[in-house]
Amino acid sequence: MSTAHDLVVERAESLDDAELADLCEATDAAIIEGGGFGWVDPQGREALTRHFRGVLLVPAIELFIAKLDGVPVGSAQLMRPPRNNEAQAFAAQLTHAYVAPYARGHGLARLLVTRVEERAAALGHRVLNLDVRDTQDTAITLFESLGYTRWGTHPAYARVRGQTVSGHYYYKLLETPRGRPLDIRARA
Ligand SMILES: CC(C)(COP(=O)(O)OP(=O)(O)OC[C@H]1O[C@@H](n2cnc3c(N)ncnc32)[C@H](O)[C@@H]1OP(=O)(O)O)[C@@H](O)C(=O)NCCC(=O)NCCS
Repeated sequence: MSTAHDLVVERAESLDDAELADLCEATDAAIIEGGGFGWVDPQGREALTRHFRGVLLVPAIELFIAKLDGVPVGSAQLMRPPRNNEAQAFAAQLTHAYVAPYARGHGLARLLVTRVEERAAALGHRVLNLDVRDTQDTAITLFESLGYTRWGTHPAYARVRGQTVSGHYYYKLLETPRGRPLDIRARA
């Protein structure tokens, strides 16, 4: 991994026009290369700008931006459970994690996922869930190396260009600054 670059991951509460333009470019580049984001076809600046502005308005979603040498090149979203889901308030979801192809291999995705985990733990969540298409080999290697446990596979997880693709479901127990470790046991 190169260390000559400046790697930063920030939680975005707002984005200026220049940041949004870079983020939209990174997002379309990742979509064209083959995904991660739920989109299959590139969306263009206008639609993606609307998407990210909308994301910033949703209280249950936190947006994290990965920057390479100060330029937004990827993002991830931390989705918190709705307030009415008290029984699952301890769990959150990591979604839409990607880094543009031109910024890969520097360790940004590892940093992105780690920052989301730290934030989820700081908010009191004890579990982080995620799911990923079977075709996303790099992401699968990354998540497994970060300690995510695969608990299931959905054979009809996504449809991409007319093909049905399976997908894997993962969870990770988070270290929280306070509280007892989570007890996991089957119902007796
Ligand atoms: C998965 C993805 C985010 C990785 O981004 P990245 O910034 O290049 O990743 P990093 O540089 O942080 O590398 C993280 C790990 O991925 C793995 N990895 C990175 N590049 C790899 C490659 N070319 N081949 C195989 N594994 C690779 C390694 O395990 C690496 O860990 P290391 O620190 O031990 O080398 C990026 O490839 C991507 O956006 N893919 C498409 C979207 C996607 O699959 N998203 C996840 C589903 S939500």
